[in-house]
Amino acid sequence: MDIQVLYHTKTGHSRKIAQAVAQAVGVQARDIAQWQEETGCDVLFLVGGIYGGKSDQKMLDLVPRLHPDHVARVVLVTSCTSGTTQQADLRAALLTRGIAVDSEEFLCLGSFLIFRLGRPNQQDLAEAGRFALRKAQE
Ligand SMILES: Cc1cc2nc3c(=O)[nH]c(=O)nc-3n(C[C@H](O)[C@H](O)[C@H](O)COP(=O)(O)O)c2cc1C
Repeated sequence: MDIQVLYHTKTGHSRKIAQAVAQAVGVQARDIAQWQEETGCDVLFLVGGIYGGKSDQKMLDLVPRLHPDHVARVVLVTSCTSGTTQQADLRAALLTRGIAVDSEEFLCLGSFLIFRLGRPNQQDLAEAGRFALRKAQE
């Protein structure tokens, strides 16, 4: 099975989480800027944060560069301070593009200002890795 892990980050958390995900499934995490449109995969993990309740525009701009014939399934992994905000806009854009998105989304706490200091911590990263391994095996 071909697995890819891509992240976009503003403050570094999504990179750390993506590296934990990638390590769990035995691949390298890469910044979305490194995505090559002709790349095909069975599972693509997209790891990103929430800013003002939304995915970052750079993450949304990746969607037209993903081809439904090349990417079989996306799994979203999301870092936020609330612990509840999903990448709903990214999910909707992927579905509109005709790309299957796993119904389960992993939410990982990430610090912002004085909130959730120290997150993601080692336990968060380990949980992200376990989630990824489970999804890669489905
Ligand atoms: C400008 C900005 C806006 C944010 N807005 C939200 C928000 O609306 N809801 C939330 O839960 N977290 C919010 N956060 C917290 C981030 O989602 C959190 O820090 C996340 O871990 C950032 O991921 P990153 O380090 O990969 O950029 C915001 C962070 C920043 C920097």
